[in-house]
Amino acid sequence: MDIHVVGPEANADERAAVDALLGAPSTGWDGGDRDIARDGRSSRGGRPAAIAQRHLLLPAFHAVQDRVGWVSRGAMNYICQRLIVPPAEAWGVLTFYHLFATGPRAAAVVHVCDDIACRARGAESLCASLAEALGPEGTAPDGRGTTWMRSPCLGQCERAPAALVVRAGAPASRAVVAPVSGTDALTRALEASSGHLTESLAELRAIVPQAGQPGLTLLRRVGLVDPASLEAYRAAGGYTALARALELGPAGIIAEVTAAKLMGRGGAAFPTGVKWAAVAAEPAEPHYVVCNADESEPGTFKDRVLMAGDPFAIIEAMTICGIATRSTRGFLYVRGEYPDAEVRIAQAAAAARAAGLLGDDVCGSGYAFDLEIRRGAGAYICGEETALFNSLEGKRGEPRSKPPFPSQAGVFGKPTVVNNVETLANVLPILTEGAAAWAATGTASSTGTRLFCVSGHVTRPGLYELPFGVTLGEVLTRAGGVAGGRDLQAILLGGAAGMFVGPESLDLRLTFEDTRAAGLTLGSGVVMVFDDTTDLADVLGRIAQFFEDESCGQCVPCRVGTVRQRELLAQLRADAGVTARAERLAILAELGQAMRDASICGLGQTASSAVESAVARLQVFRSGSAL
Ligand SMILES: Cc1cc2nc3c(=O)[nH]c(=O)nc-3n(C[C@H](O)[C@H](O)[C@H](O)COP(=O)(O)O)c2cc1C
Ligand code: SF4
Ligand code: FES
Repeated sequence: MDIHVVGPEANADERAAVDALLGAPSTGWDGGDRDIARDGRSSRGGRPAAIAQRHLLLPAFHAVQDRVGWVSRGAMNYICQRLIVPPAEAWGVLTFYHLFATGPRAAAVVHVCDDIACRARGAESLCASLAEALGPEGTAPDGRGTTWMRSPCLGQCERAPAALVVRAGAPASRAVVAPVSGTDALTRALEASSGHLTESLAELRAIVPQAGQPGLTLLRRVGLVDPASLEAYRAAGGYTALARALELGPAGIIAEVTAAKLMGRGGAAFPTGVKWAAVAAEPAEPHYVVCNADESEPGTFKDRVLMAGDPFAIIEAMTICGIATRSTRGFLYVRGEYPDAEVRIAQAAAAARAAGLLGDDVCGSGYAFDLEIRRGAGAYICGEETALFNSLEGKRGEPRSKPPFPSQAGVFGKPTVVNNVETLANVLPILTEGAAAWAATGTASSTGTRLFCVSGHVTRPGLYELPFGVTLGEVLTRAGGVAGGRDLQAILLGGAAGMFVGPESLDLRLTFEDTRAAGLTLGSGVVMVFDDTTDLADVLGRIAQFFEDESCGQCVPCRVGTVRQRELLAQLRADAGVTARAERLAILAELGQAMRDASICGLGQTASSAVESAVARLQVFRSGSAL
């Protein structure tokens, strides 16, 4: 790959897709027809306007992928000309993200989740049926216009098995089919797909088994209030928190959030008030708000439900965060596999803007705040906050070394607040109820409620909102217990980066402090249940594959360690010899320690957690039963 644009040119479709995003080129230097009188004979270089658009590299790739179904070398060259990016660098970005194709691909692609919750619900037999109907994965025999591909968790685990049907064209379409009852359902979805489908209120209610029950805070509107209607949102209490925020002013808002002891819900459990205060105090300008909606941790779907079911709440909370931290601009980075959530958030942002709730003068308050929605492109690592900043800037989603921390130098090198969707949603009740009243729920150190993503072998999978301090057994009971009355074998707590526990942990209180004391984590609120028929060694193999696939490859312990971990697990499954098994388990433990100690970011540091917990707590590979 060259550092200059040479070689193939974009075709008319590809150019049209890029121009629809960037506008038509104005000179020969940025991809337009060469006109010597206008453009001169030498490049003046720099061209600040084009360079300032560099962050649009991912949206430009999305535009071509959506229209054509893949990004050709010619299309990439044209984008490079428009944004003044060397092709070698653009290629590095293009090939980083799983949802972009760099070679011709069928216009319609069925992405089938074969990750852990969907495996428990028949994903492998679905893949076998698709291979029979459409040919091997990724192929389109006889020039057929449809292919299928395996995918990591699609964030639809409560209705597994799940698939995402994507069709390129103008317009392109993306639709989730879940649960997939068979290949017929997918064929129907392919035929019907002509836009981005959104969930009905009834469908949202089905995801939230507690819908309509008293005692809900974050989920109180989901499935009951029309997510497309600003009026309905206002009538159901929407935008009262913003009114209160404007009374309190920036310092008052931060004081309330701090007094509530709101801890981040994205996995790291960092105090939100501390983060906001740090950004507000930074002298460098401008400041940014980033809402982390990349939600790609296997087993997690809470942020999707909040965005699809109560999108105005997230917009309102981001606005309040902007006012509190002197940020006038925000980004909401939503994973590329969430078409319904993206559509709902975009609709809500447009309606809020039209009503003066976003813009240069929010509600006539004198505060300015607006936000942009950015779509991820299939990279779990982009949920890591600094990788997310790089992705927003149009780069490979590789984590940065810290310090500097995001509050000092985040996106575009400026002070940035980055918060998870669920964290932000909590800001509204904190302001409307007051910090003390809100914090009365939960425990002294884990205040408020928590969203639990319950999936796997339970009677009523779904999203549950319960106070911190509830036990694991109570969550399981709420979900109707193990499906079919079978025995419980294991629960994966916190996601693929979390840990397995057995039935002896049902009394565990689900708080930050209790899980920490037990050597566990709440992570992103995943409670994935496996009954006594589950082959846990197979589940571990899939988790190891996930981390190998998703490692950004930047540091050796993680890049090599995740491969070796997957290989060792495969050997352990294949080889029943006791001595060899003991040796391999020892290497596995050593490998886990090296990844924990020496990896740059949380992905490598937690890539062995689930595996090691299953070996230590559930005796997988130690006894003969799980082999
Ligand atoms: C590999 C990895 C993936 C992550 N994915 C997410 C994610 O999808 N969503 C999220 O909010 N935080 C994710 N995080 C945590 C973020 O880095 C960050 O801590 C969080 O967005 C901060 O928001 P909070 O304080 O509101 O939790 C991830 C971290 C790592 C290491
Ligand atoms: S730990 Fe893994 S994901 Fe994180 S920076 Fe290193 S290689 Fe990348
Ligand atoms: S959607 Fe399949 S595991 Fe989450």
